[in-house]
Amino acid sequence: MSETITITHDRSGRSERVPITGGTVDVSDWHRVLPDVSLHDPALRHTSGWSSGVTRSSAEHGRLYYRGYPADELAESSTYLETAYLLLHGELPDAGQLAQWRRRTLDGARLDAGIHPHLRTFGRDGRPMGMLISALGYTSALRPDARDTDDARSRHGHAARIVGMLPALVADIQRARSGRPPRPPVDDLSPPAGMLYQLTGRRPDTVAARALETLFILQADHEQSCSTTAMRVVGSAHADPYSCVAAACAAMDGSRHGGAAAETVAMFRRIHEPDRAAGYIHSVIAGGARLHGFGHRVYKRPDPRVAAVRALLDRLAATDESRALYAVATEVERAARSEDYFVSRNLFPNLDFYLGIGYLALGVAPELYTVAFAAARVSGWVAHWCESREREDGLVRPRQRYVGRDARSFSPDSPQ
Ligand code: ACO
Repeated sequence: MSETITITHDRSGRSERVPITGGTVDVSDWHRVLPDVSLHDPALRHTSGWSSGVTRSSAEHGRLYYRGYPADELAESSTYLETAYLLLHGELPDAGQLAQWRRRTLDGARLDAGIHPHLRTFGRDGRPMGMLISALGYTSALRPDARDTDDARSRHGHAARIVGMLPALVADIQRARSGRPPRPPVDDLSPPAGMLYQLTGRRPDTVAARALETLFILQADHEQSCSTTAMRVVGSAHADPYSCVAAACAAMDGSRHGGAAAETVAMFRRIHEPDRAAGYIHSVIAGGARLHGFGHRVYKRPDPRVAAVRALLDRLAATDESRALYAVATEVERAARSEDYFVSRNLFPNLDFYLGIGYLALGVAPELYTVAFAAARVSGWVAHWCESREREDGLVRPRQRYVGRDARSFSPDSPQ
């Protein structure tokens, strides 16, 4: 017998017993008792908007699962392409499926010819995320067939294209910003390794390629994050997937979400020496500021992805700067976790805290961290988008608690 709660409307005396399923109660049961009363939940802290079988983050156990597989195990031994396929299709691919998936994502990495000239118009100072969003808008404008989102084959075709397209776009954005021509993808590299090759012109060695696979897998999905929710919300209006990904990118760009990795590296550079970490933490607390890369809406225990990134950095942080910043970061974490402020609020480092140092060690410039994050997370975004369309989740259109003025009459003499 599952657990239940009983809702009673005190005026009418009407009662409804409601089952608690998967930690949620169904609002339609509530609605039967109180048809005109909406649930008020700013920032949707306590609201489950969808049923989803893609990813589960178990806050109480500190584990993250993609389609049932622990993400850290996939990050250790799987490849990004396998993981992206798993997220989208629900099962790991066999050899034939993987070969076909590889071909389809590679097609996506061959960017439309007009994209590079379009990106060049932003000049050297163009912000990468603005350029990425613009390139997605450009693609949406030129691919009207992508608007046929009712067709499952079309959805999956564009999803595969997008998974290959974003890492290639990250490289093309950087090449356009530095006035260099596009560099075509090579057939035998995965999307993350291909991105590094297209950025640098050098094939990554096995250590670097494996490290980037690991980072991409750890970033690939995180259930209903702010950007994934944006993807689902815009998708619910039946917008094309390029426009949906542009919306998700815009959400990811914020400093409270994917923008935190670059902010974190900038913060470590400012702190500069490990023995200045404690003083920095005191100034954050005294100033009522937020420590970049700390805290999480879901995890009130250590974020399971952090240990995996740290294990990677123990092997990878080889350049002088990444090693120095890693030492600073370790000390900032220690200093923060020694303070009652962070302990009492259950604030731990999140994925972004060490992520930027990983990218730095691989030679990816800080201004690209957020777009690189989007290039990895896009596999989760398209999986959620396809799932949401398959389930016919309906148009997202929440209610509000109105706190504005009562109705009043307009007269031409009203003050402007
Ligand atoms: N530094 C200092 N204090 C913090 C931090 C932080 N990084 N994060 C939360 N707090 C404090 C809040 O001030 C609040 O304190 P109060 O109770 O005294 O008012 C309390 O902890 C709870 O904070 P909320 O904002 O309610 O927590 P929420 O779940 O909404 O925040 C968020 C999650 C937005 C990620 C927040 O922790 C934050 O801003 N972190 C810094 C930005 C960051 O690292 N973002 C990356 C997130 S992970 C990702 O996108 C991959």
